[in-house]
Amino acid sequence: MFITFEGIEGSGKSTAARILAEYMQERGMDLLLTKEPGGCPLGRGLRHTLLDARAHAVCSRAELFLFLADRAQHVAEVIRPALESGQCVLCDRYVDSTLAYQGYGRGLDTEFLRRLNETATGGLSPDLTLLLDVPVPCGIMRAGQRNKEAGTTVSEGRFDSESRAFHERVQKGYRVLAQEEPERFAVIDASQPVEDVSLQCLSAVEKILRLRGEDL
Ligand code: TYD
Repeated sequence: MFITFEGIEGSGKSTAARILAEYMQERGMDLLLTKEPGGCPLGRGLRHTLLDARAHAVCSRAELFLFLADRAQHVAEVIRPALESGQCVLCDRYVDSTLAYQGYGRGLDTEFLRRLNETATGGLSPDLTLLLDVPVPCGIMRAGQRNKEAGTTVSEGRFDSESRAFHERVQKGYRVLAQEEPERFAVIDASQPVEDVSLQCLSAVEKILRLRGEDL
């Protein structure tokens, strides 16, 4: 089973993914927790280029192809082999991040992006996508807090320093994507405390497992 986590900055998806992974592992599930960008050695180099806003001025199209290169290698080297060996894969960001950020956020054509995603992944689509939905001001505040605790300033990440309007477009995009594919997406109210968010994620996973005739 392939599960992805999506959401704006500060939505808490990385924490939710970690908690869910721990829970599923305790239940004896063989799983891999990974992320984009940076889930494989090539991607870790690309991640540095992509996310360090001071490193390079990268135009939207170059940025897009760096994310896609990361994804193509990550799928080939990490995700597909894990799924083929029977592991459950939890991935923090995947194809919907490109649609939300480069499509709705940067204004690139979403149909074109879908085709590129298809090429990069060889058509590998998640079984379940957990969208951690949080109001933009709350996400920005949490991301700022996280950066402060990590000793960086809010403006150091390429996307953290984008305008509020950019994040509003990304969030709206995610909601449209979830409406377009309600059977794949579960929308999680991520403004709740972390325990509640994790429980909502867990019940979405249990639901899909039941549908597949499996159990946790
Ligand atoms: P990261 O530090 O992993 O942030 P987060 O904890 O919010 O996931 O940075 C990933 C950033 O890259 C995030 O701002 C979203 C952006 N991104 C894209 O714009 N397009 C993509 O396809 C992916 C995978 C990420």
